[in-house]
Amino acid sequence: MKDIDYHTLAETYKTPLYVYDLQKISSAFLRLKEAFRARKSLICYALKANSNLSIIHHLGTLGSGADCVSIGEVRRALRAGILKYKIIFSGVGKQDNEIQEALQSDILFLNVESEGELGRIESIAKSLNKVARISIRVNPNIDAKTHPYISTGLSENKFGVDIQQAKAMYIFAKNSPHIEPVGIHFHIGSQLTDIEPIKEAAHKVAQLAHSLIALKIDLKFFDVGGGIGIRYEEENLINPYDYAQAILEALYGLDLTIICEPGRFLVGESGVLLTRVLYEKHNGEKRFVITDAAMNDLMRPTLYHATHKIEYVEKIQNAEHIGERSVESSLCDMCDVVGPICESGDYLAKNIALPKLTHGDLLKIENVGAYGYSMASNYNTRLRPAEVVIENGRARLIKNRECFESLISDEEKLLHDSQTMDLQSIDSADSQSVDS
Ligand code: LLP
Repeated sequence: MKDIDYHTLAETYKTPLYVYDLQKISSAFLRLKEAFRARKSLICYALKANSNLSIIHHLGTLGSGADCVSIGEVRRALRAGILKYKIIFSGVGKQDNEIQEALQSDILFLNVESEGELGRIESIAKSLNKVARISIRVNPNIDAKTHPYISTGLSENKFGVDIQQAKAMYIFAKNSPHIEPVGIHFHIGSQLTDIEPIKEAAHKVAQLAHSLIALKIDLKFFDVGGGIGIRYEEENLINPYDYAQAILEALYGLDLTIICEPGRFLVGESGVLLTRVLYEKHNGEKRFVITDAAMNDLMRPTLYHATHKIEYVEKIQNAEHIGERSVESSLCDMCDVVGPICESGDYLAKNIALPKLTHGDLLKIENVGAYGYSMASNYNTRLRPAEVVIENGRARLIKNRECFESLISDEEKLLHDSQTMDLQSIDSADSQSVDS
């Protein structure tokens, strides 16, 4: 985003501010789509990475579907204009009301992650007099070699079912009048930088697909999950072409539509977080730069020790700014960039070189388009930032900064609500039933 005038954006929309470049999202999407052109394929954007309606809508206009992990995300996808037959619903713990609404919405399929869940889906479909299209998430027990918190393809992780169990579930599904197994699914982890584990998983799951088809289970979709990594530092990158080739190779002899569920790859590099310096301070030898963004705005450094490059955004040298100091030539010293939250874990970068900074200086945190805003919280009663997109050289607000009044309005209403529930009688009813 070289030519973007971050100073004007920061002045207009204030900071902290998320800024996304739609052009970058388009080119990532089209690169991946192009890589799969030899086969029927559907890219279902993983909304969890960034679920702003304008981002989803933009991907929808390019032909994207949606991978959702809550009914809230399914609703977002529909509201943003994603076609229902391009929406899939994944996740290890779907609630009854979520299953019911997903079936009523007639989406493409539900990814199932346990026998218990398959049972719930069957009985809910039966009560609605519907047939539930499903896919089963297979856990191939393969080490994706990524951060343990975002590695999902080992039996020690809570996700999916093993191959034997999957087979039994497919047979159960085939024999049920209320379930139609249409797909097979795996996802071994996120921020993957090595293609080998993906290859291995695709081959293992393709073998299972062959044996299911031999059992007359009429699969249509081969869902390879998401996980393609991006460059935060010097990581090795998986080339989309090699990625697609690896999957196509595994699918030799299988006439299945490929589905993939990328999140980070599509939106990660499109986003920056603008933040202003509040203060600089030294505790002994240690230099801290305190910014108006904090771990509640960008959780990844604290949670995963993730590294996001931070750059000083130079002042624009025009008539108004003549006379301002130029920091380019000033010495860069090491510092930690930290937020105002009351925890030592609240940091955005450690031991990075920045010039001497002063109140109001602007910093830009890179590669925050994925799992930035979507993981933000109100911790310390901080208001979540505004979000802006850049398209054809113009900026457009896609979410307002939260406001304090709406943040507390529900609590405030209830503060003066005198309605109570008598727990005494529930307690005594319970103890009677235990006694009897
Ligand atoms: N499909 C499934 C079933 C997933 O669990 C995930 C991510 C994706 C697709 C999309 O993965 P992606 O293409 O974005 O890697 N908060 C963490 C990432 C958590 C990923 C969870 N699952 C982070 O900030 O790194």
